[in-house]
Amino acid sequence: MAVASVARLREADPMPIQSRPMVAIDNITMSFGDFTAVRDVDVQVGDGEFLAIVGPTGCGKSTILNAVAGLLTPSAGSIRIDDKPVNGVQESVGYLFQQDALLPWKTALQNVELGLRFRGMAQAEREEKARAWLTKVGLAGFEHRYPHQLSGGQRKRVQMAQALIVEPKVILMDEPFSALDIHTRHLMQNELLRLWQEDRRAVMLITHDLEEAIALGDRVVVLSSGPSSRVVESFPVRLERPRNVAEIKLDQRFTDLYRDIWACLRGEVEKSYARQD
Ligand SMILES: Nc1ncnc2c1ncn2[C@@H]1O[C@H](COP(=O)(O)OP(=O)(O)OP(=O)(O)O)[C@@H](O)[C@H]1O
Ligand SMILES: [Mg+2]
Repeated sequence: MAVASVARLREADPMPIQSRPMVAIDNITMSFGDFTAVRDVDVQVGDGEFLAIVGPTGCGKSTILNAVAGLLTPSAGSIRIDDKPVNGVQESVGYLFQQDALLPWKTALQNVELGLRFRGMAQAEREEKARAWLTKVGLAGFEHRYPHQLSGGQRKRVQMAQALIVEPKVILMDEPFSALDIHTRHLMQNELLRLWQEDRRAVMLITHDLEEAIALGDRVVVLSSGPSSRVVESFPVRLERPRNVAEIKLDQRFTDLYRDIWACLRGEVEKSYARQD
């Protein structure tokens, strides 16, 4: 697809939200003292929409996600989830961190049921749910393993079950697969798509990997280099689902879109490196 036709599609359909926004980020500015990381960021995520966010390192991606989770408060602007203002840590959010966030002294089963425990669910019920989720992510039989007895990919599966078991309205993912080797990453990406497709929630995925953003997302938002980072462009991804992440990369529409988004992202990445010199 030529650049011009992509631009036309974007104009016709600037925000392909299937329904009402589940996450409404309304003109937020995020500052740390005198330093403004992001300024006037306006992003909406539809109910059931998979939004991927890319941008140069340090531009404020994690900061935005932390604001949606209620871990940080915007200096200006506001955020709503399912039309309710985000005020403090959000129970309706499942957060998948880049780093391993499992408790090392708890087994896979105990880690997965944590969120339900915090919500006051009785033990028998939460254990049954946690077992079912471990089976869903392909870890039946691994219930009593501790994190150090699991591979990196298996730990990621536990984290996925941990984030999804609470049936969040919004799933936040901060470079969840970047530490995995390429084959495990493909497996996990397909696994994520399979689980997401069963029960579509709003997703915000941060990634450095533009291929991952296009292969998984309904839309890719590009942020500018920081400080005072902002949204540069929003690209709809019109590739049918279900998708296989390895195969879809061979699709001509994929490579065309990759080229268009990279043309936009590249300039921001170069600016970001220039600032670090
Ligand atoms: N608590 C904090 N206090 C001061 N500055 C911060 C704080 N948290 C983040 N920053 C700064 O805000 C900017 C954005 O950080 P953030 O972690 O959101 O970037 P990012 O886009 O997630 O980067 P990366 O891709 O490397 O993970 C950076 O310049 C960072 O140094
Ligand atoms: Mg980050």
